[in-house]
Amino acid sequence: MTLPIRPDLQGLKPYGAPQLDVRARLNVNENPYAPPNAVVDAIAQSVRKAAQGLNRYPDRDFAGLRQDLAAYIAQESHVDFVEPRNIWAANGSNEVMLHLHQAFGGPGRTVLSFAPTYSMYPEYARDTFTEYVTVPRKEDFTLDVDAAVAAIREKHPVMVIVASPNNPTGTALSLDEVRALMRAADEVPGGCVVVVDEAYAEFRRWGTPSAASLVPQHPNLAVSRTMSKAFAFAGARLGYLIAHETFIDVLKVVRLPYHLSAVTQATARAALAHHRALQAQVDEIRAERDDTVEWLRAQGWTVADTDANFALFGPFEDRERVFQGLLERGVLIRVTGPEGWLRVSIGTPQEMALFRSALLEVTS
Ligand SMILES: Cc1ncc(COP(=O)(O)O)c(C=O)c1O
Repeated sequence: MTLPIRPDLQGLKPYGAPQLDVRARLNVNENPYAPPNAVVDAIAQSVRKAAQGLNRYPDRDFAGLRQDLAAYIAQESHVDFVEPRNIWAANGSNEVMLHLHQAFGGPGRTVLSFAPTYSMYPEYARDTFTEYVTVPRKEDFTLDVDAAVAAIREKHPVMVIVASPNNPTGTALSLDEVRALMRAADEVPGGCVVVVDEAYAEFRRWGTPSAASLVPQHPNLAVSRTMSKAFAFAGARLGYLIAHETFIDVLKVVRLPYHLSAVTQATARAALAHHRALQAQVDEIRAERDDTVEWLRAQGWTVADTDANFALFGPFEDRERVFQGLLERGVLIRVTGPEGWLRVSIGTPQEMALFRSALLEVTS
């Protein structure tokens, strides 16, 4: 029997990197450190309390969680304007992104991004019948601001999405670059929103700013964040966004009712109360990243400058062979980015030592 699947979905494979039980899982940019026991206990207690009310639907507007996220972002990004009404959240920033596309995308509408970038962006567009257009980044993976502004003027996108730090390259944006995008977006007839996807923001190098500080001046700017990366909380699924209240109100229209379960809200609130403990190793990961970049360069490879918890390196004549050779030695990385490049997430010092020795074996 033939299923009446949408023609544009026929034959497509679901998105997803391999989940393999190997010694070094360095392929999806997770934080390699499990939550400390004290945090595990706090989460368990918080979930236990929530479980007593599971006969009821959860707080649809997740007021407590928004309050906690606002307090966290105010402190993390040194901004003083963030109130709970400036926060939106969903099951991972993937779902936040889908809400953005549901609210602003649609047939006859265009979303613009900058390649190479996060491979889910075209999927949100596809799922909402939105056209997805990319402008190539420069050779060093920084934004080609002139080309970006020209494309905004020509294509009149409803939404510009730019990841900072960018996945898979690690490239962060300066505030001047965001301002240039905003100026171009403000001229688009009918309006254009700019979304800065800061999934990896907490790993940025000292002095690299967050676009959150620009939100007060721009009602069409949103900054997306996640607890999946620096927070060591990928399994909990909690992403969020900072924007003007009028922007958030639009997203409320498209969300499913009660999309954040009471268990998710309880888990995330307990984690936010312990954010320092959960992010205790972020400095270590940053240092390990910088050492990894330095080591890769010393071996003669090119490595993109990175503000994230991963590094894109290459070029390899046969990257599949290198990927496979590493996997045979218990090291799982990611084949992504332009042809010839590979991406490695930063793990523990032991995992990175294994990565280095395996890479030398495979490429010698
Ligand atoms: C740039 C970027 N944005 C968003 C996400 C989605 O993260 P999550 O849905 O876990 O919050 C990822 C995950 O890898 C990412 O790399």
